[in-house]
Amino acid sequence: MTGLLDTPIRLWITGATSGIGYAVAQALSDRGHQLIITGRREDPLNTIAARAPDRVTVARGDTTTPADLERIRAHFDDPRPLQMAILNAGTCEYLDVADFRSSVIEANIQTNVIGTSRCVEAVLPSLRAARARGLPAQLVIVSSSAWWFPFGRAEGYGASKAALTYFAHALRADLAAEGIGVTVVSPGFVKTPLTDRNDFPMPFLISVDDAARRIVRGLERSQTEIQFPKRFTWILKAISALPQVVIDRMAASMARSQSKDQETHS
Ligand SMILES: NC(=O)c1ccc[n+]([C@@H]2O[C@H](COP(=O)([O-])OP(=O)(O)OC[C@H]3O[C@@H](n4cnc5c(N)ncnc54)[C@H](OP(=O)(O)O)[C@@H]3O)[C@@H](O)[C@H]2O)c1
Repeated sequence: MTGLLDTPIRLWITGATSGIGYAVAQALSDRGHQLIITGRREDPLNTIAARAPDRVTVARGDTTTPADLERIRAHFDDPRPLQMAILNAGTCEYLDVADFRSSVIEANIQTNVIGTSRCVEAVLPSLRAARARGLPAQLVIVSSSAWWFPFGRAEGYGASKAALTYFAHALRADLAAEGIGVTVVSPGFVKTPLTDRNDFPMPFLISVDDAARRIVRGLERSQTEIQFPKRFTWILKAISALPQVVIDRMAASMARSQSKDQETHS
């Protein structure tokens, strides 16, 4: 079977200024692909572009802002069609239930769901143009496996990633007739600036280079679901098969010990 990444293609990646997006962008650039890279901070984007200025285009912008996306879209039109969009930009804000603020839920949904859907809106015409020329086209949506278990304080993040995964799966159904594939990436804990803020144990934490390797390998193999590390995702899947009352007890006990840890450290 031939894969979309077997030969160099043009692709767009969001959230390329740090963590997973930065590492995936470097890996794909090193493999000879042509990249349009997006994030709000310009310096890290320039660092990636400096390694391969002929193949990497910096398109700075906020993925939640339609005007920024309009500007970014201008880079999509090129004699060579865009064949893949890796929509990875995301945020994780935790809720303090003692000081419940709906703005925390809103911030997660705004970046992770609304922002990603705005990116889909911006890129779909280009992917359709690739299909019209008989070329394969793929949307890649970076979700998370965190929402498979009700982790305390993750009400906003988990809800956003659950919604994002549903969005991606429904989009996969709707775009199937057009031959545009949708891949969902569901990582466990990866060491990045996003998780460096976590003050709780992160089981099976992997390095960002390891995560990037697994994502690129999954894309090269044309996988539509990329989930890792397996030991973590299998455990979460096994737990999710338990009765809800058992899951609730486990989740409440974890949330209690997490808040005790926080009290000890504060
Ligand atoms: N690390 C993990 O354990 C883990 C696990 C599961 C899923 N994920 C998901 O993987 C993705 C990448 O996370 P990461 O761990 O690599 O985090 P990170 O190092 O904090 O990177 C997040 C990226 O998203 C960009 N971003 C955030 N808001 C944006 C906005 N409004 N507009 C444009 N870009 C924006 C950031 O760039 P700027 O700040 O420059 O805009 C940055 O490049 C996220 O979707 C995250 O939910 C991570």
